Amino acid sequence: MSGSSVHIMLSNEYYKASSTSHFNCHYQRTIMLKLNSFTVTDEKTHPTQVMRRRATLSHKYELFYRDPLNPVQAQDAWITDASGRKYLDAYNNVVSVGHGNRRVIDAMTNQAKMICTHTRYVNDELCRLSERLTGKNEGNNEWRSIFTCSGSEANDLAMRVAMQFTGGNGFIVTDHAYHGLTALTQAITTSMTGYLELSNRLGLEIATIPSPVGKNEGNSFIDGLQTAINDMHSRGIRLAAGIFDSFFTSDGLGLTPKGFLDDAVRLLHDNGALYIADEVQPGFARSGSYFWGFQTHGADPDIITMGKPMGNGYPMAAIMFKALLDDYIMDSYFNTFGGNNVAVAVGHAVLDEIEERNLLENAHIQGEKILSELEQLKESCVNISSVRGSGMSIAVDVVTNDGAPNADGAIRIVEAMKQRGVIISTSGVSGNTLKIRPLLIYTNEDTNFLIDQAQSAVRTVFS
Ligand SMILES: Cc1ncc(COP(=O)(O)O)c(C=O)c1O
Repeated sequence: MSGSSVHIMLSNEYYKASSTSHFNCHYQRTIMLKLNSFTVTDEKTHPTQVMRRRATLSHKYELFYRDPLNPVQAQDAWITDASGRKYLDAYNNVVSVGHGNRRVIDAMTNQAKMICTHTRYVNDELCRLSERLTGKNEGNNEWRSIFTCSGSEANDLAMRVAMQFTGGNGFIVTDHAYHGLTALTQAITTSMTGYLELSNRLGLEIATIPSPVGKNEGNSFIDGLQTAINDMHSRGIRLAAGIFDSFFTSDGLGLTPKGFLDDAVRLLHDNGALYIADEVQPGFARSGSYFWGFQTHGADPDIITMGKPMGNGYPMAAIMFKALLDDYIMDSYFNTFGGNNVAVAVGHAVLDEIEERNLLENAHIQGEKILSELEQLKESCVNISSVRGSGMSIAVDVVTNDGAPNADGAIRIVEAMKQRGVIISTSGVSGNTLKIRPLLIYTNEDTNFLIDQAQSAVRTVFS
């Protein structure tokens, strides 16, 4: 096992060059760490697989692991590779009600056999799905929804609505965020290079602020937000929205102190900006406490975007927004596949699974157990500096003996976990955060297996 698998892209020449024309209160970052990501050109993939991928797929596709995984079958929380080896899935947050979920598959196939059309025909089940989703955020507001096929599309639409409503083009995002791959959403995706150039071309004004991960957490986040708002105002930029993943997942998971997001939203509202809650990762009961991530802070979003676990693998996503924003959607809205009958049937099946199997509670129970065991591991290992999480969203920071971010150590743990039959990955601005996202359906045995292997992997890597 070696740390040479770290793939570092010296990438931010443009980032540095252009940051003078944009407000950036956190632009010291000079390298972007792409951990556990390998391209077919870096000679770490099996030769025949390399040749085939190079010949037919874009070279921009990446692979996880130096010795990539070839999964062929999966059931519940377990993935089987081509050699028959089984791996516990502690990473894939799409199939959160389980690989091969019978209820979801039955809903999908039964509906496909019956009829699959689009939203231009009456469909009571579509309305019922909207009612079920909007009902997850009780309050005084009337909510409406639009169904899309991906989280990117949902965020893209949310950004356009915010621009139309406010007349602004200023967006505030954190400094290692991921919000999607359409033109607009990539222009605010600070975890990828090139976003500033793209935002320039699109006429957007982007302010990046430190995520609430690490020192001072939510407090420094509020300070950064205030500074960004002041800077935008002083430059005559009208704000459209702050768009944040409610758990700051790609930034490395920022959860504390509870309530800071509510304060941030008030600040946005006081300054004429909307709050777009990107719930693509934290939504659908992952927090183990509430259905939506922002609810852990009592925050009041104007637009909620969702995707990933919504269809348990069927490509579906949506935005929910305060009804007054409906008039600011340009012309009419039609999405060929978004909200089709199969998507609607799948959407109900996923919600049925979460509700009838008490998966919110299960996420809480299993997540607490994982967190407390990892917390104990931290006490006995100087190379683990922080363990944090909520339900089935868990982050572990890996550091050197001197306490510096240790991206190499993190990737070695990821590899060691794979050798032990568990799939996890890394994230965070320094790439030293272990990203652990168990499925909501974990049994006690799954949880114990994850904990045992994590303890063993960490001890082996740092022995
Ligand atoms: C927080 C967040 N927002 C948006 C997206 C984009 O979703 P999709 O890949 O479905 O377009 C992602 C995808 O990883 C995400 O993590």
